[in-house]
Amino acid sequence: MGTKSAALPGQVLADLRELDAQTGGEGGARRVAWTSNWERARALFAERAIGLGLTPERDRAGNIWVELRGESDSLLVLGSHLDSVPSGGWLDGALGVWAGLGVLEGFLRDRRRPQRSVAVVDWADEEGARFGRSLYGSSAFVGALEVDELAGLLDRDGQSAAEVLGAAGISFDSFEGADPRLERIAAYLELHIEQGPILAEAREPVASVTGTVGISRDCISFEGQSAHAGPTPMEGRADAFLAAAEVAVALEELARRSGGRATNGRLDLEPGIPTATAGRADLFTDLRHEDAEALEQMHVEAGRIAEAKASSRGIEVTKRKIWSIEPRAFDPRLVEAAREACVSSGGSDFTMPSGALHDAGELAPLVPTAMIFCASQRGLSHCPEEDSTEEDLECAIRAFDRLARTVAERSDLS
Ligand code: GLV
Ligand code: MN
Ligand code: MN
Repeated sequence: MGTKSAALPGQVLADLRELDAQTGGEGGARRVAWTSNWERARALFAERAIGLGLTPERDRAGNIWVELRGESDSLLVLGSHLDSVPSGGWLDGALGVWAGLGVLEGFLRDRRRPQRSVAVVDWADEEGARFGRSLYGSSAFVGALEVDELAGLLDRDGQSAAEVLGAAGISFDSFEGADPRLERIAAYLELHIEQGPILAEAREPVASVTGTVGISRDCISFEGQSAHAGPTPMEGRADAFLAAAEVAVALEELARRSGGRATNGRLDLEPGIPTATAGRADLFTDLRHEDAEALEQMHVEAGRIAEAKASSRGIEVTKRKIWSIEPRAFDPRLVEAAREACVSSGGSDFTMPSGALHDAGELAPLVPTAMIFCASQRGLSHCPEEDSTEEDLECAIRAFDRLARTVAERSDLS
């Protein structure tokens, strides 16, 4: 295995900074999927690939692929996403895409074909920031996307996913089964920042990831009566917001008790004015747990809590599923190879599960999959303050490159 021309962390970091300068900045990354800024980010990626003599291709779901042909057709895929949450961090997703391109660049500098073909993929709309459905591109790729569920989801302006994706040239009629490329994939690897505090608190730069967390995401709607803020007595109100607020607080307690996570990152109120009680409140709940059974229990309990809190205020409640995914474990041999790559790149021997979602979770049941994490400063992500030290990023990029090169050359690993 040639190691003399490994990916240059400096080049990957320069690419990331350029992306941030063009599509982010002080207020954070502005690359929400299906916006022109996201397209700008993807164009930068495509331009860099073309500059390396490679040809970007868009698949039926809008994922962008760049492939370097190897000695065999068997494909190693390196992926992540260029889309961000609104006012997101500069590294979430982007790190993995640019590091993947760095790996290809290293191979090209070697002027030697790897045993396996190696592709970098920029998965479309990983974040689900606009419609609430995460992992769109990777789930469409593996044939796990419920098209009807997605099509009817609305953004805050009432536009449906069907309209917005249709305008981007995506036809749901073409989504029959998995993308044919899947058959060629021998392994999937993803580099990402941790997005939480574990590595920073342990003072470790990198980790090998054992799997992704399970998630249940719903919209709970409370239907009460909107009424004037002044003349309406405090007794007898049917304030939908207060029912939603009580549920949110109870879910915090439920998550603490269950060892999981509960987040209510979005609440839509109608009429949404200071001078009337809310006649309607739509509370978006995101429940997470590493254990499938514990997640299911949390989910059932959350439903009971919503019923009880609503009925005590004389309010109607309905629950609509937005999306769910069970915990997904990664491939033990690749997790081990990722550990070795971390150690031999100046990192430590550290493994951990992921509390965040990743496209790797969609690939894991179908192809051997692994991830490497880089420490996040202060454990912050999905916010403009998201950052990692240059030293940790360099270590993570080196480790990922080493892992990718190992898997590209060794057929016994996947
Ligand atoms: C994506 O970043 C998620 O974990 O929701
Ligand atoms: Mn991400
Ligand atoms: Mn994210």
